Amino acid sequence: MSDSYIQNLFAERIGGNQYGKGTAIYKFEKIKRAKRAALAANPGAELIDMGVGEPDEMAFPDCIDALCKAARDPENRGYADNGAQPYKEAAARWMKNTCGVEGIDPDAQIVHSIGSKGALTILPACFINPGDVALMTTPGYPVFGTHSRYYGGEVYNVPLLEKNNFRPDLSSIPHDKLKRAKTLVLNYPNNPTGASATPQFFAQVVAFAKKHNLVVIHDAAYAALVFEGKPLSFLATPGAMDVGVELHSMSKGFNMTGWRLGFVVGNPLIVKAYADVKDNSDSGQFLAVQEACAYALDHPEITSKIAGKYGRRMDGLVQVLNKHGFGAKKPRGSFFLYVRIPRFVTSQSGQRVGFETAEAFSQWMITEKLISTVPWDDAGAYVRFSVTFIAKSEAQEQRVLGEIDKRLGNSRFEF
Ligand SMILES: Cc1ncc(COP(=O)(O)O)c(C=O)c1O
Repeated sequence: MSDSYIQNLFAERIGGNQYGKGTAIYKFEKIKRAKRAALAANPGAELIDMGVGEPDEMAFPDCIDALCKAARDPENRGYADNGAQPYKEAAARWMKNTCGVEGIDPDAQIVHSIGSKGALTILPACFINPGDVALMTTPGYPVFGTHSRYYGGEVYNVPLLEKNNFRPDLSSIPHDKLKRAKTLVLNYPNNPTGASATPQFFAQVVAFAKKHNLVVIHDAAYAALVFEGKPLSFLATPGAMDVGVELHSMSKGFNMTGWRLGFVVGNPLIVKAYADVKDNSDSGQFLAVQEACAYALDHPEITSKIAGKYGRRMDGLVQVLNKHGFGAKKPRGSFFLYVRIPRFVTSQSGQRVGFETAEAFSQWMITEKLISTVPWDDAGAYVRFSVTFIAKSEAQEQRVLGEIDKRLGNSRFEF
């Protein structure tokens, strides 16, 4: 069939008249295909999915009850626009009680988002002109960069290397990029490395932003999921409020990925610009969702329970992987365990296979072990295990971990 005239109308930012014609298969599609093939080759077998980036459980019952009640309230039926006061106030309380950040003005410094993803699509419109540079870290969540490119911006990715504890070496950014840079996006606890920031690192970031006139956007989607102590907010850093905002999310820390709610908090001028563009992009999240999430924010014990579960699973997984030679280290937060791939694996039959890339190793894990992980080759070859695998009880968690141990046990890994 010949091309429809529509083919010639696509914007260059999504490929212009070549849109949809590429033959490259992207990472997540390759994983999906490998999983399908592995199950077809092993009918009835259990595929252990360690690749999923969202909680395995529902929101807590009292949050669901709060949602049902709020959904019946006629006051909640309409457009939410830039948000309801109770959610903003609960967010300010949560920042104080859970993150130790005092004095946030909910009117001037907080606006909700339809998840952090929504905020990451809107914020580039506030800052990025053609030719501006958006500083990001790699591997990472690419959404801010994608939208910066849509606006004609350029992305400069700073690698997250193990030798730097997966924090960016800011001094490595070339001068010509820095001169044109307007934004620096960071994400801790980090997806996919699981790494956490430190107060010292955040202090360096504030000084760096002031020196180079940068806006800092700290994507704290996993903030609440810490295994020890309190979440570390960027905004707790002296001077941070002068340079940036932080993005929080109900998704991971409250088992609410599908509810689509988060908030942007911090510098009032940045929050105002975000609110202005947001007002022209969406009409806000359902007020009943905001009301139920305000309830959730006032119950931080929900997150403590969820983090406790991931921490326990993490301990078990680290132990299993290290038994087989992996150099796994329990992260301080998130639900991601990021491990360097082996160079070779020898199977029971004596066959020895080498891996050049994380993608090759991840495909082998699906095909040979029916264990799915997500590979990253952006800054070294690593695979990401998520401890969000399905297990309804601690006994089932142990069963899954035991199964991983058994499956890895009949191979020898060389690193
Ligand atoms: C680093 C990071 N930021 C943002 C998001 C988006 O989260 P939300 O559900 O709040 O939109 C994700 C989701 O996977 C993420 O990993």
